[in-house]
Amino acid sequence: MRILFTGGSGKAGRHAVAYLTSQGHRVLNIDLTPLGMDGVDDRIVDITDAGQVYDTMLSYAGFDELEPGTGTPRFDAVVHFAAVPRILLKPDNECFRVNTIGTYNVIDAAVKFGVRKIVFASSETSYGICFADGERKPDYLPIDEDHPTLPEDSYAMSKVVNEATARSFQRRSGFDIYGLRINNVIEPHEYEQDFPKYMQDPTLRLRNIFAYIDARDLGQMVDRCLAVDGLGYQVFNVANDNHSVALGTSELCSRYYQGVPLRRDMAEDESFYTNARAKALLGFAPRHDWRDYLTP
Ligand SMILES: NC(=O)c1ccc[n+]([C@@H]2O[C@H](COP(=O)([O-])OP(=O)(O)OC[C@H]3O[C@@H](n4cnc5c(N)ncnc54)[C@H](O)[C@@H]3O)[C@@H](O)[C@H]2O)c1
Repeated sequence: MRILFTGGSGKAGRHAVAYLTSQGHRVLNIDLTPLGMDGVDDRIVDITDAGQVYDTMLSYAGFDELEPGTGTPRFDAVVHFAAVPRILLKPDNECFRVNTIGTYNVIDAAVKFGVRKIVFASSETSYGICFADGERKPDYLPIDEDHPTLPEDSYAMSKVVNEATARSFQRRSGFDIYGLRINNVIEPHEYEQDFPKYMQDPTLRLRNIFAYIDARDLGQMVDRCLAVDGLGYQVFNVANDNHSVALGTSELCSRYYQGVPLRRDMAEDESFYTNARAKALLGFAPRHDWRDYLTP
């Protein structure tokens, strides 16, 4: 597919872009800074400027596309990752502005130019636990996509708004628009770097509901979204299968989740952030387990 990818120069985006190109897709990355990856075209675009987004949506990706002499080709899909990716990087109002206006512009342009597959990055933070003031417990476990999304912070608020924006565009267009409630993204080098700390102090992972998503598995998730058509508007939890700490489900429940109902029996190393919907509807099959990357 010919894909317009926003935010491909970032932490998550660069792995997703690498995965997509490895699967044979052509990617034009739009970002404030270039990715500089072989085989990937870069364009400096500010997604908060609708004109720039509109222009790029109907643009050549690279010089080679001038050769056929048949005008600008259309994108088959848009993958939208560009954002201010958490609180405390920029003022709260700026985070909210960039994320909501940027997402509106990207989906609006995609829909108006007839791009029938749109995948966008939402976040685990939409469940309101990650950036809560103090500790908030989930209403129930495992957290699935039906769990209420009522966050208190500007970043997660922007993601909830983006889901509403996407849903409205889907209703009008009938296109496929899939939102990814991505858990904490882990790059390959971060296993050795950070996971020993998580084994020593599991509380460090409490705000992520003890879950994680390998950056390469996130790439696979995006690719599955591109491959499976006809689901309309969807949101998916995106996480690996297991906990990111060395404790099992029963120990974690007794230490951290007293009084939180378990909706079903859970395996001892089954993530509290369930990816069951992505598996069932998309055939998502995460491959990277943190334990494979730590020297015993
Ligand atoms: N990293 C995580 O753990 C995590 C978890 C959940 C959701 N997400 C979401 O995944 C996406 C990617 O996150 P990330 O960790 O790679 O963040 P990142 O900051 O590393 O990458 C975001 C990219 O967006 C670009 N960008 C920001 N503002 C822009 C603008 N106005 N115009 C064009 N480009 C702009 C940045 O230059 C950057 O390259 C974001 O939407 C984020 O909210 C990330």
